[in-house]
Amino acid sequence: MDLEKLKQQFIEDIAKVQDEHSLADIETKFLGRKGELTEILKSLAGLTLEKKKVMGPKANNLRDWMSEKIADCKFQIADLKWQKIAKSEKQDINTPTLHYPLSTIHYPNGHLHPLSNFIFKIERVFEEMGFEVVDSYDIETDYYNFTALNIPPDHPTRDTQDTFYIKKINQANNKSKSDEFLLKTQTSSMQVRYMKNHEPPIKIIVPGKCFRRDDDATHSPQFHQFEGLVVDKDLTMGHLKETLSLVMRKLLGEETKIRFRSSFFPFVEPGLEVDVTCPFCKGQGCNVCKKTGWIEMLGAGMVHPNVLREGGIDPEIYSGFAFGTGIERLAMMKHKIPNIKLLYENDLRFLNQF
Ligand code: PHE
Repeated sequence: MDLEKLKQQFIEDIAKVQDEHSLADIETKFLGRKGELTEILKSLAGLTLEKKKVMGPKANNLRDWMSEKIADCKFQIADLKWQKIAKSEKQDINTPTLHYPLSTIHYPNGHLHPLSNFIFKIERVFEEMGFEVVDSYDIETDYYNFTALNIPPDHPTRDTQDTFYIKKINQANNKSKSDEFLLKTQTSSMQVRYMKNHEPPIKIIVPGKCFRRDDDATHSPQFHQFEGLVVDKDLTMGHLKETLSLVMRKLLGEETKIRFRSSFFPFVEPGLEVDVTCPFCKGQGCNVCKKTGWIEMLGAGMVHPNVLREGGIDPEIYSGFAFGTGIERLAMMKHKIPNIKLLYENDLRFLNQF
């Protein structure tokens, strides 16, 4: 197990590299799944503790060093390729190529939109807790968005979530049929949809676009929400509280606290409004939180037995909790953004701050 010899071999091999293919061969030879250094690293497990202490760091350092050399070499190859292309007049050298290290020709590096970034962050936080990320539909049926959630056609809650309806045209007489489809107003629409197709235990997080007739500094007709749904045996409000408390700490900062206030949503019982300590004044009271120290952040509650039943789940055996909130709202709190429209205007002076 001579690491020095292996290093020499690697240096000799990499000096002969001509193109990306021979470089890939070298990578496989030394660092691949059955590569020479990989085998050595695997065999460390069988050594005595003393030997492991000596060999372990050496072998790991060599692996890092080799990976670095291979990465350097990749760039050099890409560079040579680019120079060749640049010399041939037929090529449009202004076409950027992904193989070329952009930083060296001073293209400004772009980055994800702050909203996308925040959505990824939310997904990561929940995934770490064992949640599955599930996609939602933008166009939803009236049934899943409302009726299945204990909100029948004449329920007043529908007024607060007016949205865009899509009419189905009857081809025969060109007359519209009932408004069966709509642009979903809440990610809660995925609750029954998912329950119908999956057995408990269910532990999902659903980010998605929502649409409502709201339009002011903190509301936009199109926005994003995420929904959490957990269904299992013996779930209590304690599970809900601990889950949300952990998530809010991770998203808004370790010092964040949450509190529950009773509220009403037809699809949960009991229903809750969840407040977080104001991130601007850390709970001391300021203009943003109207001097209360708290900011309303999520709707939540224990899944209503009717909703479980609608999803084909026996409420005598299972219980569940659900929560949902606007992603823009969270991002605006986190980054102190005063107007929701700033998130959609694509003004680089705004976006470059993230
Ligand atoms: N869907 C609700 C809303 O848009 C929020 C909510 C989700 C409330 C889950 C309770 C449970 O306001």
